[in-house]
Amino acid sequence: MPLVRRLCLVLGLLALALFGTAHGARAATQLPCDIYASAGTPCVAAHSTTRALYANFNGRLYQVYRSSDGTTQDIGVLSAGGYANAAAQDSFCANTYCIISRIYDQSGKGNDLAIAPAGDQGPADHGAPAEALAVTAGGHAVYGIEFSGHMGYRNDSTTGVAVEGKPESMYMVTSGIHANAGCCFDYGNAEIHNNDPGDGHMDAVNFGTECYYSGKGPCYGNGPWVMSDLENGLFESNLGYSTNSSYTGNTQTFVTAMLKNNGQNHFAMKSADATAGGLFTIFDGATPANNINRPSQGSSDFGYTPMHQEGAIILGIGGDNSQSGIGSFFEGVMTAGYPSNDADNAVQANIAAVGYSTSPVGGSPGTLKPGSAVSLRATTACCTGDYIRHQNGNIVISALSSSSSLLDRSDATWIVRRGLANNACVSFESKNYPGEFIRHYNSILYRQPYVGIELDANAASDATFCPVAGKNGQGSSFQSVNYSSKYIRHYQSTGYIASNGGSNAWDNAASWSDDVSWIVTAPLAN
Ligand code: AHR
Repeated sequence: MPLVRRLCLVLGLLALALFGTAHGARAATQLPCDIYASAGTPCVAAHSTTRALYANFNGRLYQVYRSSDGTTQDIGVLSAGGYANAAAQDSFCANTYCIISRIYDQSGKGNDLAIAPAGDQGPADHGAPAEALAVTAGGHAVYGIEFSGHMGYRNDSTTGVAVEGKPESMYMVTSGIHANAGCCFDYGNAEIHNNDPGDGHMDAVNFGTECYYSGKGPCYGNGPWVMSDLENGLFESNLGYSTNSSYTGNTQTFVTAMLKNNGQNHFAMKSADATAGGLFTIFDGATPANNINRPSQGSSDFGYTPMHQEGAIILGIGGDNSQSGIGSFFEGVMTAGYPSNDADNAVQANIAAVGYSTSPVGGSPGTLKPGSAVSLRATTACCTGDYIRHQNGNIVISALSSSSSLLDRSDATWIVRRGLANNACVSFESKNYPGEFIRHYNSILYRQPYVGIELDANAASDATFCPVAGKNGQGSSFQSVNYSSKYIRHYQSTGYIASNGGSNAWDNAASWSDDVSWIVTAPLAN
């Protein structure tokens, strides 16, 4: 395309993304799927719990299921082309616990995502907690989806999604402060039978810290990285490992992760801070050689050049239902066709204009910022150098300092999450065991994977604690959300929830107010 025409198209798309249409009266701003449609690569799937992805979309975004009576409610937008009506969720889920049971497709193709069924690598998944990821978008309180392991969504019978070497693209807005090396936090095209029949049968954008081809070459920095899951490999380039030393990952709270693949011989991955700036191209070049995973094997029915997509859609899991990935999801789309870079840039400008943001959880000390890392130091005179840590899955306190080993300091470092059962409260996720949280069981504290409430009805509440002012006047105390007379306590160096006097030895009233008071400190491990 001649340079002048190309420049006009770029400026036009950016103007549309930021200011609206070219008609005299100001019309609704073009949203991601309007932009991709204008560029000739329409969305065939559009999923979000936070906002409409078409300017004229005025339908339902997602469905929540509440545990108190087993009923569901659809959550829509506040206005056409607008933000999610999170207040409807708040009122439906008040005084009970909700999961996200369905994410509706806005594209009109009916490509909704339901909780994923069993696959080769695991039993049916669980729904993600509905209120664990409260953020703001466009100044409105909305909810993203926070995935622990064993949570995922899928549609094995889609319409319009690329199959067998057809071109496509996808992006998701995810988070750089909640990711792990488990397989596989993906959004995109996967197998229709939830198995792994061979290379090239998937084409999904992946976000995580697994350097899949580390045996062959580097991944730069610590990630998490935007990668492509093309089946039997998380790719940062055609060689698998990274060929771009300036890409060290995306640690921003909100991250745009993008993948496009022409289905025949070319793919590209891009990333951005989803709140500002433009896209960074991680890789733009040839798809991997067909024998990259099996050098002795020549070309076959399987392989990446061309691709062999099957057209299912997954979110939060691998193609064969591998369930170890954790992550966050706010919005995502899939297109038919290979979009222009100009369209990608306009979409990123529109995402940044949303102004995704997060804020501290209320209560005391009021500075427990979701996503931040903290350590929790005891205040009892015996033990003011002791911190809450996990050890062999148990929760204990032990004397630690900045000169302790990295392992010990990591065991005592917790990522603050909005309460899995109540977003005004908090849950503490282990830094070195992402997806595992402090929870009580028979009043004893453990570090355990969060498995969702279908598998364990108390899993969310047992891992949710409400911060209040420290009972001895120092720091904070953490009240159990489901046993309100009990607070996180150390007793004989072990972690419990305990009341001020009661039937268990650890409810002993002596030094209770000191034992339940904790100083929230900077993380012992960064
Ligand atoms: O490609 C990585 C993973 O490998 C896929 O998501 C999964 O289907 C397989 O186990």
